[in-house]
Amino acid sequence: MEYITLNNGTKMPALGFGTFGLAADGTAKRCVLAALRAGYRHIDTAHGYLNEREVGEAIKESGVKREEIWLTTKIWPTEYSDAEAAVDRALERLGTEYLDLVYLHHFLGDVKAGWKGLKSAVRHGKVRSIGISNFERSDEYESFFDGIEITPAIAQMERHITFTPEAYAEELKGRGIAREAWFPLGGTMSQKAQLNLPEVQQVAKKHGKTGAQVLLRWQLQTGFSAVPGSSNEEHIAENLDIFDFTLDADDLAALARANSGKRVFDVPLSAQTDMIMGFKFND
Ligand SMILES: NC(=O)c1ccc[n+]([C@@H]2O[C@H](COP(=O)([O-])OP(=O)(O)OC[C@H]3O[C@@H](n4cnc5c(N)ncnc54)[C@H](OP(=O)(O)O)[C@@H]3O)[C@@H](O)[C@H]2O)c1
Repeated sequence: MEYITLNNGTKMPALGFGTFGLAADGTAKRCVLAALRAGYRHIDTAHGYLNEREVGEAIKESGVKREEIWLTTKIWPTEYSDAEAAVDRALERLGTEYLDLVYLHHFLGDVKAGWKGLKSAVRHGKVRSIGISNFERSDEYESFFDGIEITPAIAQMERHITFTPEAYAEELKGRGIAREAWFPLGGTMSQKAQLNLPEVQQVAKKHGKTGAQVLLRWQLQTGFSAVPGSSNEEHIAENLDIFDFTLDADDLAALARANSGKRVFDVPLSAQTDMIMGFKFND
């Protein structure tokens, strides 16, 4: 495993297991258990994924000590007005006494209050690091940084071989904020198209690796942590096997040619607002 040192000095495993879309019908538990057994020590969930209870159950059942696992969740914009209470509820659902990282999931709702609540959760020992997710989707996100006292440790964003938000990523780097990619394999809706791009397959053949392994290695080598998701136990194990090869300058140049500048999740935040702010949780 490789690690990323965050601006508060904590070390986070650079490759995690993403749980978006894993249903709480036993699937999320099965996949998180498979990930922990395969050797992942970083799990990424969110209140919005509706599977935190199963993630917590899998962690308990795995027998892996809680302190050996980096556990991330995200709170929803409708929870920002009392974010510390949202953290308390997440702790209860996940069956844990602390979280390694909590993100504000979207730049919507009372973002300032959300950050204040997360800072309070840090002060009370409930959360170790706090971060921002999808903030670049709003034109107004820069106002967030005024007077925040604790700089986010990390920012999560859509990023993959065909779309890299360079200006935002550079700006975060300048602020000392680590960067993490979601949809590192192009997401389920791209139906594995990115794994099979000729630029990716050419590099994969050269190293005797799969397209998925090349895409994940590329994330880490270009300065991002990544949280690939999968419901397939072979894929889960395959995606962790990326620490025995290195992409060289020719590989990186070939992969850069696959960048079309197009998001997979191409819906502006303004168009998602009603859905996000109107979403009702039943826990
Ligand atoms: N902050 C946010 O708003 C946000 C939004 C989206 C996602 N995320 C986070 O990012 C994580 C990753 O996103 P994601 O899971 O949607 O997309 P992803 O990791 O880019 O792609 C998942 C897709 O890749 C396939 N796949 C995975 N490994 C494979 C392999 N080795 N070979 C072939 N196919 C493979 C999976 O199919 P199989 O099941 O068949 O393996 C699935 O269709 C999420 O789980 C979540 O934690 C965050």
